[in-house]
Amino acid sequence: MSNKIKLIIVFFSGWLFFISSCNTHQPSDNLFQELGGLDTLELVTDAWIDSLKSDATLSVYFTNLFNDSIATLNFRNHLVDQFCSLSGGPCVYKGRSMELVHQPLQIQSEDFDKTIYYLRNILNTYITNENTVLNFIVRIQSLEPSIVGP
Ligand code: HEM
Repeated sequence: MSNKIKLIIVFFSGWLFFISSCNTHQPSDNLFQELGGLDTLELVTDAWIDSLKSDATLSVYFTNLFNDSIATLNFRNHLVDQFCSLSGGPCVYKGRSMELVHQPLQIQSEDFDKTIYYLRNILNTYITNENTVLNFIVRIQSLEPSIVGP
């Protein structure tokens, strides 16, 4: 086989490899559907906000927010969008960055863990599949570095 033909074969194998890797799609993410879609996420968000209001330690962080009904409604809607988009749903989060909102609050990691504990309990009341609950919790927990501290 001539060098020219070898070169053509090597070129085409490389090209085929490149094309096939470009066409490799990630498996579609069903978490949003598994969670019950927007209806469930809205119920979960409202119950989560109630639990933040009722907790003596956590509610301190939210005093200003919960005294302003418009800001509370925006917060609620931003949370729904964030939960929806983090679970692979069709919403777009349009709120401020997590760092910008939370860093001035100097949130302690125990307080962050408490919010996760409440969220998990609430999810368990709506969703029977523990794997689904854990998958969602892992995504929310991944926000911790931008929420806790400094
Ligand atoms: C657990 C994960 C958390 C998520 C997903 C989350 C998400 C959000 C979102 C989406 C907003 C609204 C941003 C906006 O409207 O532009 C927000 C605001 C806020 N978050 Fe969080 N948050 C979390 C944890 C916490 C914790 C642990 C605390 C305190 C204990 C906290 C305190 C606040 C407060 C006080 C605001 C309102 C700030 C303001 O409007 O000035 N968050 N959060």
